[in-house]
Amino acid sequence: MKGKETAESREGTTDNLWGMYINLLYVIVLSVILLFVYMAVRTDIDSYLNRKIYSAEELAAFQQEAEARERSRVAEMNWDKVVDGIHIRTGLHDDENLQIIIGTCTSCHSAKLITQNSASRDGWKSMIRWMQETQGLGQLGKNEPVVLDYLAKYYAPVETGRRKTLDMAEIEWYELDGE
Ligand code: HEC
Repeated sequence: MKGKETAESREGTTDNLWGMYINLLYVIVLSVILLFVYMAVRTDIDSYLNRKIYSAEELAAFQQEAEARERSRVAEMNWDKVVDGIHIRTGLHDDENLQIIIGTCTSCHSAKLITQNSASRDGWKSMIRWMQETQGLGQLGKNEPVVLDYLAKYYAPVETGRRKTLDMAEIEWYELDGE
């Protein structure tokens, strides 16, 4: 009886030892797995822990920056943008009557025909008459003097010679016939 008990208890001790080893092995394997998992998600955890938390002021500044960008983008697209007195879309000189000129003179051809020409008021008038007689340009009515004033003001004959500036007192000196 006693001997059997001893053998059983010895067997029990060996079982306990194996059990301990197996438990230890579990712990080690589990640790290794956890280590791998940690390594895999480490950068995510780090970036979460180190994430920047913006203050209300910073967020408001971002908002303002975005709005400023949007405003300048809209200004870039501005259909009637004027730079240095030139209406960018058409190339015509800016003026309070510019929209009348655009409406009257750019439906058939580009405004380049205007900007590349120069003439006196009479010269412009005869060009308009020519377009009316041969190119289907309609009557300009009350816009005609407005258009002629505009054309004579910005697209007058330019003196390219000795004189660089226009002298109004001597306007006859270089006035051209226009055609
Ligand atoms: C109904 C259509 C029409 C309208 C509107 C029109 N034009 Fe013209 N215009 C023409 C045609 C067609 C030509 C000839 C184009 C060509 O030769 O390629 C022309 C030519 C011109 C030329 C070149 C003339 C030349 O001798 O080379 C000028 C400058 C001009 N137009 C100015 C104007 C002005 C300023 C207005 C506004 C008052 C105007 N056009 C409105 C049809 C029009």
